[in-house]
Amino acid sequence: MKELIQKLPKAELHLHIEGTLEPELMFTLAQKNNIALPYQNIEEIKSAYNFTSLQSFLDIYYAGANVLINESDFFDLTWAYLLTCKAQNVVHVEIFFDPQTHTKRGIAFKTVVDGITKALTKAEEELGISSFLIMSFLRHLSEADAFETLEQSLPFKDKIIGVGLDSSEVGHPPSKFERVFEASAKKGYKIVAHAGEEADSSYIWEAINLLHVNRIDHGIRCEEDVKLVDFLIEKQIPLTICPLSNVKLKAVKRMQEHNIVKLLRQGVLVTINSDDPAYFGGYINENYEAVVKSLHVNKEEIKTLAKNSFKASFLSEVKKQFFIETIS
Ligand code: HPA
Ligand code: ZN
Repeated sequence: MKELIQKLPKAELHLHIEGTLEPELMFTLAQKNNIALPYQNIEEIKSAYNFTSLQSFLDIYYAGANVLINESDFFDLTWAYLLTCKAQNVVHVEIFFDPQTHTKRGIAFKTVVDGITKALTKAEEELGISSFLIMSFLRHLSEADAFETLEQSLPFKDKIIGVGLDSSEVGHPPSKFERVFEASAKKGYKIVAHAGEEADSSYIWEAINLLHVNRIDHGIRCEEDVKLVDFLIEKQIPLTICPLSNVKLKAVKRMQEHNIVKLLRQGVLVTINSDDPAYFGGYINENYEAVVKSLHVNKEEIKTLAKNSFKASFLSEVKKQFFIETIS
């Protein structure tokens, strides 16, 4: 199975670029930019990565992002991630970035986007990896903040395919951002949202009915509502699931209890992704391997999961079909 997973062409659809900051790069950038880190060494960092919840992870994730200052830092971060894509046979990526995490600390929107997109362009040319960029709003911030960020993004519209919604879920339902997403859709952005990771299935319904999402990020709590699962199947609304993340953040107790394979067998368009691989113990292939190890998936199902990653992407129908046909 390991060889099959390695060999399969795959798309990654749920990946926060700030979540690819490996401890080594974090230390290098902290030193270069003269930023104090709450850790003395890499062992200390690793022991801090013992999360009890989404919020406990986010505190550490935002602290790590403080080392990203210059355009070249965003380039280096993104390029390092794209090299892992090449090594794991990821041929298409749809990457989230969190502009507010950076603009709130005085980093210009342009610095962030230019650094990331220069790496994406280089990857297209040199590694043959295609990509889209998705801007995510932080749901713990205000609607006004999100509107301001939407405005800042408009000069870069040709570089950004869509908008998303992330950070701490409970207490910040999709409805809080209904008007921002309506305005984003009017500007031509595609729509995704984290929902049903920690918060209940009502957040998934809101993301569908109020934000009009093209797909749901995580969405694992859909299981609580039979009507919702039926709806996801009927409409083939994709879920971008991140198994290692779900276990690390305790949204799921143990991998053996993860519902991804159950949902797949019911006919939900589920995909495997890595979320924040530097923090959760693995990139996309490690996520596939963790699912195989704990959930008795067969080879055909693994191929279906890889095909689903293209089906659920924002690629053109022609490109989707091209990649799907490369999986026999
Ligand atoms: N959930 C919500 N927000 C996030 C995540 C996540 O898994 N990763 C980075 N921001
Ligand atoms: Zn995520």
